Amino acid sequence: MSSARKKITVVGAGQVGTTVAQLAAYANLGDIVLIDIVPGFPQGKALDLQESGCLQAFDSLITGTNDYADTANSDIVVITAGLPRKPGMSREDLLATNAKIVKTVTEQIMKYSRNPIIIVVSNPLDAMVYMAKKVSGLGKDRVFGMAGVLDAARLRTFVALELGCSQIDVDAMVLGGHGDSMVPMPRYTTASGIPITELMDKATIERLVDRTRKGGAEIVQLLKNGSAFMAPGASVVKMIEAILHDKQRILPCTVYLEGEYGWSGIFFGVPVKIGIHGIEKVIELRLTEEEQKALDASAEEVKKTIKEVDALLGKS
Ligand code: APR
Repeated sequence: MSSARKKITVVGAGQVGTTVAQLAAYANLGDIVLIDIVPGFPQGKALDLQESGCLQAFDSLITGTNDYADTANSDIVVITAGLPRKPGMSREDLLATNAKIVKTVTEQIMKYSRNPIIIVVSNPLDAMVYMAKKVSGLGKDRVFGMAGVLDAARLRTFVALELGCSQIDVDAMVLGGHGDSMVPMPRYTTASGIPITELMDKATIERLVDRTRKGGAEIVQLLKNGSAFMAPGASVVKMIEAILHDKQRILPCTVYLEGEYGWSGIFFGVPVKIGIHGIEKVIELRLTEEEQKALDASAEEVKKTIKEVDALLGKS
């Protein structure tokens, strides 16, 4: 049965992939294809989710598959395939393994979808989204990564808990790479429009910023076997919603830079306007000297991982 509904493919039916599929279905964002290499795994998850439709009041079709032909003509593809971190591992430790996976997945996706929007989640994020762009040949408006929405959500949470106020009233901006060098921006972090620099002392802000930088590791350490998936899944779905409903939201996303913020040829977290065409505009902020220095240090870290991807691509 063909459908006029939007088609969302989620690659990787693990923790993050399942959460994305679940929240996207609950929000009635379109039909969903869940694909994984493990036989039966995506089929089981998809059927289970489909059977919740009458309870959660969604009418999306949920398909579980191991065959990329079922992903044909996807509007949006979310790549979550790959290994998650174990305690003590950095995201960069996953590079070689996940790079191979993201390469294969992107090749397969492009065989069946001509012009999808690809959102990458697999880590190390900045390098994996670079791989997806190189392999897909898609424009920078159509391949980008989910990191900033999650990192900002963590900072928003920590600020709200500290102030004892509603999380809904707190907004935040986090720039840079999706690693320990990320650059949370207290100047652009507010509670109902009030910058937190007016509400907290410097030491408190520094503590929350540090916790944000290590937010992923904190959860890996607690879970012991796997990494965060609920806030990452919710972050991806916010991005899908912004695209499919053409919301023109301003969100931090990991996008390909061509001179913005003084950097070119890397994927990096910056504020963008996101709508039906994907990344519609990169927003450049005027930074203080200190902020630019932190951002440059983060870009240097990202550059290292991107070089590793180039080396892997050179070999293949
Ligand atoms: N094609 C399709 N799926 C694959 C492939 C592949 N080539 N290789 C692995 N997978 C699948 C696994 O079978 C597994 O079901 O990817 C899924 C990953 O799920 P989890 O192990 O539960 O990992 P998850 O917590 O979802 O994290 C996925 O997102 O946040 C990042 O760092 C995280 O890189 C990790 C990714």
